[in-house]
Amino acid sequence: MHEAARTRYATLDRIGDAHINAALLAQLDKKIASGTAPDEGHMMRANLLRRSGRIADAREAIRAHLAIDTMPDILAIPPGLKSENATSVAPLIVIDDLLPRDEMEALYRHACSLETKFGKAGISRRGGPYDPQKRETLWTANFEVKRQFFLDFIASNLARFQSALRMPTFTIEKSGIKLTNHVDGGFFNLHRDNLEGPNDAGRAITWLYYFGADPPRFSGGELFIFDSDPANGRAAENFFTKVVPRPNRFVAFPSWYFHAVGPTRVPGNRFADGRFAVSGHLWKPADTLEWTYP
Ligand SMILES: [Fe+2]
Repeated sequence: MHEAARTRYATLDRIGDAHINAALLAQLDKKIASGTAPDEGHMMRANLLRRSGRIADAREAIRAHLAIDTMPDILAIPPGLKSENATSVAPLIVIDDLLPRDEMEALYRHACSLETKFGKAGISRRGGPYDPQKRETLWTANFEVKRQFFLDFIASNLARFQSALRMPTFTIEKSGIKLTNHVDGGFFNLHRDNLEGPNDAGRAITWLYYFGADPPRFSGGELFIFDSDPANGRAAENFFTKVVPRPNRFVAFPSWYFHAVGPTRVPGNRFADGRFAVSGHLWKPADTLEWTYP
């Protein structure tokens, strides 16, 4: 890993620290209670909560900020939230406890049985070379258990996802799916899954389903989704949503937003103890639809 990445991850760790953010929250809550908080008090709360990985609490703070009663139940972070330095907060779908426990465990056993089939992942969308400075991820596209379930789940929920993420009703050109595992030292440095404009052909929705031992026997491996200005290729690197890779958690977000996977630590470095995910992308064709973002 490059020194710059190491430094970036150390900063993310510090900014996302649960204790520091809890202390900042307590101060802010006092100000809100006494009516001395800035107008953006609820959004400031949401920022502290989402950067410490408290997604459900962040969702409630955003609801208070927007003064709305309801949000789609799958939506953790709604679209349209502006952030620092002319960036936008990435909208985010989170579904916890997606599968019955025994089905998640069957997938986990299946993934472990495929250990020798996993290889080191490349970088670019055209399957560029493996580069240990940018990414350490094991992956395989060849798996069977739950494969069709996820392809069907994504296809049958497309309209729901598009509506929640405020995307026009594009059609699916391709639905990619694979298994990944981050073992000790695994990470994926800051990147985007789509560098083109929204009307161009390319990835539109990035999704992940975390599974494995519960409680996990790894630490780290969080997904950081940065507040971004995709049109200008910029990220507000100190403003982000941290997603803790809890087993049986599904997440999805627009592929244009910058994101990274934090370093994973696996004591003993057993393959079976790594940070597993089913991960995929929905590819759209070129279109002339009205995209309100990225
Ligand atoms: Fe990615």
